[in-house]
Amino acid sequence: MQYGKYTLTEIISADVIRKRIREIAQQLSDRFKDEVPIFIGVLNGSFIVLADLMRAMTIDCEMDFIKLSSYAGTESTGTVRLLKDISADITNRHVIIVEDIIDSGLTIQFLKERLEGASPKSLTIVTLLLKPDVAKIKFAIDYVGFEIPPDFVVGYGLDYQQKMRHLPAIYRLEGNNL
Ligand code: IMP
Ligand code: MG
Repeated sequence: MQYGKYTLTEIISADVIRKRIREIAQQLSDRFKDEVPIFIGVLNGSFIVLADLMRAMTIDCEMDFIKLSSYAGTESTGTVRLLKDISADITNRHVIIVEDIIDSGLTIQFLKERLEGASPKSLTIVTLLLKPDVAKIKFAIDYVGFEIPPDFVVGYGLDYQQKMRHLPAIYRLEGNNL
């Protein structure tokens, strides 16, 4: 589809996303039954996946947000900056990190180390999307919604220059001179 001067190609439909989120929520609800896990969403991109994931949970859960930055345009800058910290105390809590996408793996690496420093009872990582050909991570990602090729994608919370987050599905942003 055409979006202003950009061409977007849908790669994962809203319906397929909804079903996969429901599956992951069910698995998390089973795994943490009798516990009250706390979701930590990584702003800005994960706000939609977190909202949908949380509403599909069948157990009590809490949430908070952290804001990090490693990106400018379509390229990782190679350094992660903390823009907003969590306010909840996660010591001795079951923590579930929710990411929109793991690309280079830099952000999740930083986040894992930082949250582990607060001594949670457990740390689980959920990401809607993973670019396995790009990601260089030395630990397991517990729940992956979809593995995708190393293209730049937008929609369902993911942006290009802060725009297109509101689009309902995941689209590949076409063009190599973005
Ligand atoms: P990483 O640190 O390289 O793994 O990148 C993680 C962050 O970069 C994600 O949380 C996104 O905010 C952003 N990002 C990476 N790839 C894409 C993409 O294809 N579209 C939009 N944002 C992306
Ligand atoms: Mg992000």
